[in-house]
Amino acid sequence: MTLMKTIAIINGPNLNRLGTREPEVYGSATLKDLEERLTAEAEELGVAIEFHQSNHEGALVDLFGDLADRGVNGAVLNGAAYTHTSVAMRDAISASGIDVIEVHISNIYSREEFRKHSYTAPVCKGVITGLGFNGYSYALKELSEAAQ
Ligand code: DQA
Repeated sequence: MTLMKTIAIINGPNLNRLGTREPEVYGSATLKDLEERLTAEAEELGVAIEFHQSNHEGALVDLFGDLADRGVNGAVLNGAAYTHTSVAMRDAISASGIDVIEVHISNIYSREEFRKHSYTAPVCKGVITGLGFNGYSYALKELSEAAQ
């Protein structure tokens, strides 16, 4: 019997506001739209999926410990602003041992200087930036195909 892989989709601060938040940068689709799309794709790929969103750094740190304890197989992370500030989130990813792909909706390299540095990228399997919601889909596909 093969156990179904579980992939977590994690969205950080302000991403609960997708759809109304700076649509010229992030588009007009909502977080719910993203989650519906990924739910359908996960079904096609044959993986279980779970969604998390928090505006709180400590909650995101706790989450990585929880995912590791539960043996979740991979995570797609849009750490949003904490990408550029949080050593705690980086350490939590690293300590979890989980394969994480960092995703950004916008291209962080074409924006302000402070967005060009990611604390989390070096401890992630890869980074996708600037491809909108497609980035989450590509990351989900990659993690679902990755050998465990
Ligand atoms: C973001 C880019 C970050 O710089 C920003 O703080 C966000 C969203 C993106 O998805 O493009 O909140 O991660």
